[in-house]
Amino acid sequence: MGIETILNEKEEQWQELLKDCLSCDKCVLHNTRNKVVFGKGSHEAKIMFIGEAPGESEDREGLPFVGRAGKLLDKYMTFADFTLDNVYIANILKCRPPQNRDPDQSEQDNCIDYLRLQTKLIDPKIIVCLGRIAAMRIIKPDFRITSEHGAWFRKGSIYMTAIYHPSALLRDSEKKADAVIDFKSVREKAVELRIL
Ligand code: URA
Repeated sequence: MGIETILNEKEEQWQELLKDCLSCDKCVLHNTRNKVVFGKGSHEAKIMFIGEAPGESEDREGLPFVGRAGKLLDKYMTFADFTLDNVYIANILKCRPPQNRDPDQSEQDNCIDYLRLQTKLIDPKIIVCLGRIAAMRIIKPDFRITSEHGAWFRKGSIYMTAIYHPSALLRDSEKKADAVIDFKSVREKAVELRIL
């Protein structure tokens, strides 16, 4: 099979997944959402950033990390040479929980297969969890963001780490120095793996 055929098949799988996600009614959040927030970035990325759930701006625009936290994330991304041409960004939940409350377990369970399929299609070498909720779901259930942010974990061929959620940095600017160190570490790992 030629490379073009493989790429076309992959794009078809992306389109199918997007279509399923846009019409999802597996949990109550579909009643209150304005837009499904599927993901953004390159389908050829080798690095995935995974957040928690859409907030108000994301729900309005249908894209992850476009609000205040997203603007701050953009700054760290630029600092580390990451752009939407070399990363893919998605969330654990594709719909906004009312009042931005934490996603509950059953909402996560209903939604996680979309992220699994996105991850399978991307086939990343690095996954960066943004905050505690994503780290607990993706790295380990007892993840402690305060003591374990920036640490590296390996699952099969994927290197994983978690950094402070940009909303946490907005609330407590003392954490920003740690975020700089963690972003540097992600950049170094990407260079080491020759994906940047
Ligand atoms: N917080 C998240 O975790 N994800 C978004 O997309 C926006 C804010």
